[in-house]
Amino acid sequence: MTPPIVETRNLCRSYGGGVEALRGVDLRVETGEFVTLVGRSGSGKSTLLTIIGGLDAPTGGTVLIRGTPLDYRDRRDLISLRRELVGFIFQQFNLIPTLTARENVEYPLLFNYRPPIERREKALELLSMVGLEGRASHYPGQLSGGEQQRVAIARALIADPPLILADEPTGNLDSTTSEGIFSLLQRLNRERGVTLLVVTHERELGSYSDRTIEMRDGRVVA
Ligand SMILES: Nc1ncnc2c1ncn2[C@@H]1O[C@H](COP(=O)(O)OP(=O)(O)OP(=O)(O)O)[C@@H](O)[C@H]1O
Ligand SMILES: [Mg+2]
Repeated sequence: MTPPIVETRNLCRSYGGGVEALRGVDLRVETGEFVTLVGRSGSGKSTLLTIIGGLDAPTGGTVLIRGTPLDYRDRRDLISLRRELVGFIFQQFNLIPTLTARENVEYPLLFNYRPPIERREKALELLSMVGLEGRASHYPGQLSGGEQQRVAIARALIADPPLILADEPTGNLDSTTSEGIFSLLQRLNRERGVTLLVVTHERELGSYSDRTIEMRDGRVVA
């Protein structure tokens, strides 16, 4: 049996002042799954995502990537996780305003020592996949919210990560645009086999995913 792409065991994260953001999270995400994560504000969703993505460390428990425990004290382990395994999508898009759509998509590859032509072609291919082939030389300020998020999705895919972590990717978008983004995510999952773990406040968007996990007070409840 192949191990899950991500598994957490008794994952805990406490902050100062007695805040326990995660209180023993056990989670398995299999390769190729599309999982949505719901739960009230403050239930620990973002904390869980940042720890799985190696942007923060747990105070207890283990994260296993394809069966291998992640060593949060090993900087190289975390760097290779972020470079090779995970693509992030955020609520605020986080595009660089002075770069065009294409340059934003290329940006993560600047650190991978790839020839500029290869980077450019790949960025254009991804922009066309998200339906923005005509917008490659536009700046973020010239794009709608939904278009900016599609640029951010293309950027998350540029290094071919097998796993995408998205924290409320449609939190700033109207419901029609949100559906468009979720059906795009569903297409990535089905056509490219990308594994997705996506936080959302809108439960109905869970219908685009294979299953929905709910968090409450730092635990997974369903
Ligand atoms: N840096 C921090 N220092 C102290 N407490 C924190 C910190 N970050 C998060 N918390 C607390 O940890 C808990 C979980 O926060 P988290 O951001 O993971 O929730 P969330 O489920 O993502 O909420 P939302 O839906 O509002 O985004 C909250 O009680 C929050 O106040
Ligand atoms: Mg959050």
